[in-house]
Amino acid sequence: MDSETPLGVIQATGHRSIARLSNAWYVLATSGELTNKPLARTLYGMPLVLFRDVALRPAALLDRCAHRNAPLSLGRCEAGTVECAYHGWRFDAAGRAARIPSLIGPHPERSLVPSFATREQAGLVWVYATPNIAPTHEPFELADLGPGYATVTRMVEASGTLHATVENALDVPHTGFLHRGLFRGAGKTNRIRAVVTRAGDRVQTEYIGEPRPEGLLGRLLSPSGGVVTHYDRFILPCVAEVEYRIGAENHILVSAMATPVEDTLTRLFAVIRFRTRLPAWLVKQVLEPIALRIFAQDARMLERQTAAAARFGGEHYMSTELDLMGPQIWRLLRQAELGKTRPGNDEPDSWRREVELEV
Ligand code: FES
Ligand SMILES: [Fe+2]
Repeated sequence: MDSETPLGVIQATGHRSIARLSNAWYVLATSGELTNKPLARTLYGMPLVLFRDVALRPAALLDRCAHRNAPLSLGRCEAGTVECAYHGWRFDAAGRAARIPSLIGPHPERSLVPSFATREQAGLVWVYATPNIAPTHEPFELADLGPGYATVTRMVEASGTLHATVENALDVPHTGFLHRGLFRGAGKTNRIRAVVTRAGDRVQTEYIGEPRPEGLLGRLLSPSGGVVTHYDRFILPCVAEVEYRIGAENHILVSAMATPVEDTLTRLFAVIRFRTRLPAWLVKQVLEPIALRIFAQDARMLERQTAAAARFGGEHYMSTELDLMGPQIWRLLRQAELGKTRPGNDEPDSWRREVELEV
């Protein structure tokens, strides 16, 4: 870490909000991405190769051939194994050599390439962050919303820490400013109440008294106005959820699974589920470009924020009570890194705070 600053008078904090959780599941791909080609992915800077085994279950190995270090992702998928492009060694899901071309003698029986546990559910491929162990807990499961919902899954990337990226996804005060007119901030401001609760592995903010957003997005969703129910939540290790009910007919749940590709590069696998008064195809067509524009503004800001923190030799934060989620998310991440987290939401209302704000 660079603790030198360009200006002697400015103190470099050397601080970076990076928590590396090894005892955790992350989304590395969508199901559709695992075709008949090995897929190169990175987790915490670790190159991985993903492919499907003989039973078509996802497999994840370190992307390094045990023979001479060639990236296995350069090879191809053969009979439920990944075949190295250099000398053709084939490795199964457990990292054992299933075939070594031309070798007549016995093949090594032990696992040669570190392998990572995988799960596939709801169109997402989860990978456990530590190799060669059987996890003792399962990945996050998306809530079952019942019938009548349209689903859109999108992958986006931001040059920010997982903490900064998730905070951004759940931060309300910037929406009327950075995204002025697109989301909030087009009309008059309103005084609302936010109730933040932290318990077990999650923190949630409920916004009470929020009128329908006046921006384009809000007007399209609920032309007649209506009561808004709005929750933002973070669930360890990587889930950011934004949930809106507007009037009786509109319900939107965005579940964004954040994956730490590198310390300051985060991928979001966003599963957007909605039921609206407008037909789903229309909502998709109208909202997608707006959502992508909003995200592009966020990604640009995250990149500049990351660059500034690096330039000044570390992060320097000053929060007010409006920063409802960021400090709580950091606390959860840090505790999880230290192995102090109780999984599940087993202590409701263990911490609660109420704040009034203007949005
Ligand atoms: S380097 Fe992979 S088979 Fe030789
Ligand atoms: Fe944003």
